[in-house]
Amino acid sequence: MVITDASTAPAAAERVFDVVGLAGSLRRGSYNRALLRAATEVAPPRLHITIHELHEIPLYNGDVEAAGVPASVQALRDAIRQADGLLIATPEYNHGVPGVLKNAVDWLSRPPNHSALAGKVAALMGASPGMSGTMRSQTQLRQSFVFSDTYVLAQPEVLVARAHEKFDGDGRLVHQPTREFLGFFLQRFADLIALHVTALHPARP
Ligand code: FNR
Repeated sequence: MVITDASTAPAAAERVFDVVGLAGSLRRGSYNRALLRAATEVAPPRLHITIHELHEIPLYNGDVEAAGVPASVQALRDAIRQADGLLIATPEYNHGVPGVLKNAVDWLSRPPNHSALAGKVAALMGASPGMSGTMRSQTQLRQSFVFSDTYVLAQPEVLVARAHEKFDGDGRLVHQPTREFLGFFLQRFADLIALHVTALHPARP
């Protein structure tokens, strides 16, 4: 049952929310990491986004997990547990989620029901040189987040198509309408986090 304590609502709505940012690409010149960097620039002051990398996350293996969760996985789990939200920039590979990102989600989703993703608020975005702007990989990710009990912002959708025309050679998002839209999307994400944080803090009996 969700109980809202009206006396804590304004406090929750006014505080700064910590958000973990993940890009589903290991590529140095990744458009998706560049999109995350742009998000840190245009985010409203009440969102503090910290970008985490996936380079050290090993391939999921139940035997490895049973022997002890790898330090890199534990560190990411801890960061997400402590954060108020998760912001993911996903590429699209073969109409789906890249293995690097799916693998990270698989690690993070464990143990089921008590994972770092359970009950967490997330927002998805993506950039691709193609025309669909990662629409299909984002849809797949949403599907995975049903199982992990992760609340994903429904709208707006950030689908950065023809990414090569929107970032400059230094990976800076220079397409002004996209920067503005990204800012609006992050405002909506902050609103959802505020709602969620308030709703999940039940009043003391
Ligand atoms: C791609 N790319 C791609 N793009 C797309 O819009 N739809 C797709 O299905 C695919 N499939 C695909 C498969 C593989 C194996 C690769 C390597 C690439 C292109 C992809 O969007 C492009 O490489 C992006 O630049 C990847 O994201 P980052 O690394 O720039 O963040």
